[in-house]
Amino acid sequence: EMLEKGGYEHFMLKEIYEQPRSINDCMRGRIYPLEGKIQLGGIKEYAEKFKNAHRIIIVACGTSWHAGLVGEYLIEEYARIPVEVEYASEFRYRNPIISENDIVIAISQSGETADTMAAIEMAKSKGATIFGICNVVGASIPRLSDAGMYTHAGPEIGVASTKAFTAQVTALTLMAFYMAEVKGTLPKTKLIALLSELERIPSLVEKALESDKLILEIAEKFKDSRNALFLGRGSGFPVALEGALKLKEISYIHAEGYPAAEMKHGPIALIDEEMPVIVIATKNSSYEKVISNIQEVKARKGIVVAIVTEGDTDVVKMADYSIEIPASDEAFLPLLATIPLQLLSYHIAVLRGCNVDQPRNLAKSVTVE
Ligand code: G6P
Repeated sequence: EMLEKGGYEHFMLKEIYEQPRSINDCMRGRIYPLEGKIQLGGIKEYAEKFKNAHRIIIVACGTSWHAGLVGEYLIEEYARIPVEVEYASEFRYRNPIISENDIVIAISQSGETADTMAAIEMAKSKGATIFGICNVVGASIPRLSDAGMYTHAGPEIGVASTKAFTAQVTALTLMAFYMAEVKGTLPKTKLIALLSELERIPSLVEKALESDKLILEIAEKFKDSRNALFLGRGSGFPVALEGALKLKEISYIHAEGYPAAEMKHGPIALIDEEMPVIVIATKNSSYEKVISNIQEVKARKGIVVAIVTEGDTDVVKMADYSIEIPASDEAFLPLLATIPLQLLSYHIAVLRGCNVDQPRNLAKSVTVE
């Protein structure tokens, strides 16, 4: 088993460290930065469908649903198609309004999740076109879909999803750029710049992994916490949700992810001198707003762990602990900001003596309702 873990103590850690490669594998042969082109073999016959789509509905469960929320930001921003993100389990039992001009994107690591499969079948019966984003080749969801993309992250053994999530986000990024290309919603020069930057992401993820030691030290401070709050804005919000999910899944610490500005409508009541408040505070369009949210936490003597852009000084001064990630275009923030949160959960769980690869009560794929 040690051999299978490639020298790492746990599959989860191995999979966290595989991300520069798995993200690269997801992009391989699909992006052509010099020409500003994206080639998605599986969906290329559907260019017209994307051009005429009235709406995209993303259905998924768990971590895959968080990837879907990132997809919503990217597709609306770059391709200007309205997106709704639905829990498959809720969607399937509503009587949703679906027309033939709607596209449903189902996201699933395993491709076997019962609720996601049922949601696909229902949408199909109402005439929607179904695209699957899946990691396991030949699984049920790709077979049920009209077309789709494999994420090519390789087998994921740890029950808590890590590299599959970043590969899903990469696939959705490619889809968003592809839709933008066919719809003409992005100037060619901008698309070229984004694709060149995307090509650098695996090496930037590598750099983000270098904070591992520092993150272990921070984990030591919070290993006995009973609660944790994760805050983010924009596409940092789904990253906060995913950070909270990871922590609760493997360490059994109660954690919540919140849009930073919503904190004042509830979670602010929880702030004390013990609960870590982990804030995605990178330099992007919501930077100034997040700074005011950090001030709100500090004014109540809360403890702030900030994820910052390298070289930042303003947030670093305010926060109790800061973890740097490399600077990049805002489009790729979720891919970079997720890395330190995965490591933080991992180290806290290990320090608490938890079974990180097989947390209690959880299953890698949920094939029953
Ligand atoms: C389970 C797994 C999660 C996963 C979710 C959806 O809860 O433990 O890691 O995100 O199912 O699975 P899927 O295979 O559809 O992505």
